[in-house]
Amino acid sequence: MSNFSALAMAPRDPIMGMTEAFLHDPSPAKVNLGVGVYLDESGKVPLLSCVSEAEKELTSTSRPRSYLPMPGMEEYNLANQELVFGPSSVAVSEGRVASLQSVAGTGALRVGAGLLALASPKATVLLSNPSWENHELIFTRAGFTVGSYRYYDSTTGGVDVAGMLEDLRQAPAGTIVVLHACCHNPTGCDLTPADWDQVLEVVRERELMPFLDMAYQGLAYGLEEDRYAVTLFASSGIPFVVANSFSKNFALYGERVGGIHFAARDSEEAGRVMSQAKIVVRSLYSNPPTHGAALVSTILGSSQLRGLWEQELSAMRDRIKKMREAFRSGLESAGITRDLSFITTQEGLFSYSGLSAEQMGRLREEFHVYGLDSGRLCVAGLNESNMDYVVSSVATVMGS
Ligand code: LMR
Repeated sequence: MSNFSALAMAPRDPIMGMTEAFLHDPSPAKVNLGVGVYLDESGKVPLLSCVSEAEKELTSTSRPRSYLPMPGMEEYNLANQELVFGPSSVAVSEGRVASLQSVAGTGALRVGAGLLALASPKATVLLSNPSWENHELIFTRAGFTVGSYRYYDSTTGGVDVAGMLEDLRQAPAGTIVVLHACCHNPTGCDLTPADWDQVLEVVRERELMPFLDMAYQGLAYGLEEDRYAVTLFASSGIPFVVANSFSKNFALYGERVGGIHFAARDSEEAGRVMSQAKIVVRSLYSNPPTHGAALVSTILGSSQLRGLWEQELSAMRDRIKKMREAFRSGLESAGITRDLSFITTQEGLFSYSGLSAEQMGRLREEFHVYGLDSGRLCVAGLNESNMDYVVSSVATVMGS
C-alpha cells in the first residue's frame, strides 16, 4: 500500500515531451521545430551580447543573495512595468497597476490564476481555440472550469474575428478571457489594432476580465507595436491582468524571468490585489530568484545596454521573417500548390502548418523533423543549413 498507488502514468507533455523525444533520437539529420525557442543561424540558443555585458557588470559588483521581497526586485518591477505598459502610462502613474516579478511566463500565469481563483472562484476561463497547450493545465489546476472561444479559421488561415466576438458576447460577466497580446501561440495569427478595439468594446460591455499573455513582446513588429492591447486596455480604465516573459525576447529561458501585472480600478484596489498576490507567491515559491531579474534590470536601466538589446531583438525578428520567406518559397519551388501565404503573414516563432497529427507523426518518424501534433512548427529553429532538408521533408508529407 502506497499513497502513490492510485496514480496513473501521466501522458507526455505535448511540448516538453517532444523535446525529450528529440533528445533521444540518434539520427544526425534530426531537427527540433517543436518547442518555442529561438535559435540563431548556427542552430544554437543565442547568448545576447547585452546579457553577457550585463553579466560581466554583475560579476564585478557581486552581491550577496538574500531573499528578495515576495513581489521581487523593485527596480526590476518598475522597469518591467514601463516596458509592458509603455513609458507614459496613466494607469501606472495613478498607481493602479500591481506588478510582481514572476518565474517566467508560466509562473506569471500561475500566480495570476491563483489570485483570480481567490477573487472570483466561480468564474469560467475562456481560451482561444486553439491556445498554448499549457494554458488549460494552468487554469484547471488553479481550480477553474475552462472553455474556449472561436479563434483560428482554417478556411482563411487567419482569425475568425466575428466568431470570436460573438462567443465573447455570450460570456457571462466576470468571465476570464485569456488573450495572446502578440505572436499567438500556436497559430501565429494576431488580432489587428482595429480588432483589439472591438474586443475592448465587448469586454467593457459584458464586464469580462481580460488576461493578456504577452510572452513574445518585440518579436512581431516591435516593443511598442506589440503592446498595443496592453496600452489600449490600460487607457480604457478596465481591470485586467497581463503576464509577460523574458524567456524569448532576452533568450533567458533557463533564468525563468517574467512578470505578472494586475491593472485594478484604482490604487486602493491595486493595494488589496498586491497584498493577496503576495500570499499566492508565498504559498507557491515564497519569493523569486535573483539573477535573471538582476540581468534584465541592469540592461533596461542602462541606455547603452538597452539600445544593444533592441538591436539584437530586431535582428532576431528579422531572421525569423527571412526564414519564413525561405521556407515558403522552398515549399513553392518543391511543387506545393496550395496557398502558402500564411507562412509569411503569421507572426512570431510559430507557423501553423495545417498538417494533421498523423502527418506530423510521419514527419517525426520518417524524417526526424519534430513539430507539435497540432501542426505547429517553430520557424525560429530554421536556418540555412537545415532549410533544404526541412523543406523537402515537409513537402513530401504535405504533398502526400
Ligand atoms: C512553447 O510554446 O513551446 C514555449 O512557450 C515553451 C513552453 O513552455 O511550452
